[in-house]
Amino acid sequence: MTLLTIGSDQRLALETACAVLARGGLLALPTETVYGLAADATNGEAVARIFEVKGRPQFNPLICHVGSLDMARNFVRFDETALRLADAFWPGPLTLVLPVLQDSAAHPLTRAGLNTLAVRMPGGFARQLIERFGQPLAAPSANRSGAVSPTRAEHVVAGLGDRVDLILDGGPAAVGVESTILKPLGDQIQLLRPGGLETEAIEAVTGHILVRHVAGAAIEAPGMLKSHYAPSTPVRFNATRADPGDAVITFGGKPLDGDRDAVIRLDLSPRSDVREAAANLFEFLNIADASGAQHIVIAPVPSRGLGEAINDRLARAAAPAKEIESRE
Ligand code: TXA
Ligand code: MG
Repeated sequence: MTLLTIGSDQRLALETACAVLARGGLLALPTETVYGLAADATNGEAVARIFEVKGRPQFNPLICHVGSLDMARNFVRFDETALRLADAFWPGPLTLVLPVLQDSAAHPLTRAGLNTLAVRMPGGFARQLIERFGQPLAAPSANRSGAVSPTRAEHVVAGLGDRVDLILDGGPAAVGVESTILKPLGDQIQLLRPGGLETEAIEAVTGHILVRHVAGAAIEAPGMLKSHYAPSTPVRFNATRADPGDAVITFGGKPLDGDRDAVIRLDLSPRSDVREAAANLFEFLNIADASGAQHIVIAPVPSRGLGEAINDRLARAAAPAKEIESRE
């Protein structure tokens, strides 16, 4: 791990950071809210590493950080309210959850397979880096799962240390709490997470009263699976055999009994690498779902590392909606 202070040589910091991102590496960087743990949002394996490093047993969707409104428009659809919000508060501590464009280059793992993508334009060094890199950065707060968000590079060093390639020190974060997350829905704006941008300011600019979720923080994130995510084709996981007409998803190149007459066969990771499997998971489930198969049948995936999160998702995808609800 390299620790680099931005202040002393901004150009060196930008160049070093771009090199790390370009090879699929992870870096921690300051934003106005908290420090983020960033990777190229279009690189599935790099995004998978974020989950690995955070030690999260689940894939929560990540915020895609953009350098400009134009960049954001390559990934999500803005309605009039969303445009007004971006215009008033970007760059800044505001995240918008918007419908993802069909051919968006952001890797599906960034949004954990949802049909919405959270986007935010940070200011300062983070924005310069994104503009220079030319691609958005997927970045959750740079802490281990369950720990508090870091507001100084020292916190990141203590929490993540050698698990990241580069830590950029830009001094204490100005805002110190995470961004406010909004989801504009027609003439309603949902507040998914209160944060660094005051709701009063938002209401003043839009003329809308924010609709609050009863339980507060980003309810949709962990709970989204039942409504947005589970494929419409029935899913069986930990399967040892398949029937003709099934879509088959294997791991490590090992075929399933009876998978010769499968509608489609996909392998999550021919080299038995759970990180590679995580990067492929949502895309393959979508392909299998669209294949017209009777069932989607998935071979066992080892639970080591990201395998735990993969199996969590698969269990949810396989369970009837009611059962999932009771597990939230
Ligand atoms: O200030 C911030 O927002 C910081 C800096 C680094 O940008 N980032 C941050 O990320 O706090 P994270 O991953 O710790 O929190 C992002 C929240 C999560 O609760 C996640 O579930 C929610 O955003 N989220 C992301 N995409 C979503 C989506 N498509 N729909 C609903 N919630 C989403
Ligand atoms: Mg966080």
